[in-house]
Amino acid sequence: MTSSTKVFFLKVIIHLGALLPLANLYFLAFGDGLGADPVEVVIHFTGIGALNLLLITLSISPLAKIFKQGYLLQTRRVLGLYAYTYALFHVLNFLSFEVQFDGALFISEVIERPYITVGMVAFLLLTALAITSISKLKRKMGKSWQRLHNFNYLIALLVTVHFYWSVKSELTSPLFYLAIVLLLLLFRVKKIKRLLLSLFT
Ligand code: HEM
Repeated sequence: MTSSTKVFFLKVIIHLGALLPLANLYFLAFGDGLGADPVEVVIHFTGIGALNLLLITLSISPLAKIFKQGYLLQTRRVLGLYAYTYALFHVLNFLSFEVQFDGALFISEVIERPYITVGMVAFLLLTALAITSISKLKRKMGKSWQRLHNFNYLIALLVTVHFYWSVKSELTSPLFYLAIVLLLLLFRVKKIKRLLLSLFT
């Protein structure tokens, strides 16, 4: 099988794997199929979905290197855009079901609840990455595109903090995610050192 055929099949799997669960979630939500607290289920599902997709996106480059499968890199853009789509639904769920599109209430939530503040910063950064993933913009931005997209690592950390802070008792899942983020950062130690050095010199 050629690399482009492999990429084609992988992209079909990614589209189906990302879109079908999302469609099923809202089908169940609007058909009263999500139990006593559908809002909580919808916010949880889209939040965890966004984080999972973000971490899968960040794993592609180390996996491609370890298994010498360079074509895998061609799936990063679509995976990243689905991470953003899930994050967008997560925030829209919060805006519509938790604060009923009340702008003032939303702003006070962002200011008063630190976990929402952190989530908002992560969401704004993700929005910048999603917009600049458009090919024309990527070409125009040149080297600064890579610099901006290095924020992916910071976003993963911020989302893990947002998750950790949002849970009241059960800390196993956020700590598990933190371990994965740290492992992924470990693969980029050299790059991160270089980034930090360029910031402080
Ligand atoms: C304005 C931005 C955001 C708002 C208002 C927001 C809001 C929320 C809320 C209300 C919860 C549920 C907390 C609870 O159970 O009481 C939550 C949890 C969560 N959010 Fe966000 N979030 C934002 C951004 C993000 C982003 C950008 C991501 C991922 C890319 C994300 C991922 C998560 C995760 C993984 C959880 C934990 C899921 C759970 O166990 O319930 N959030 N967020």
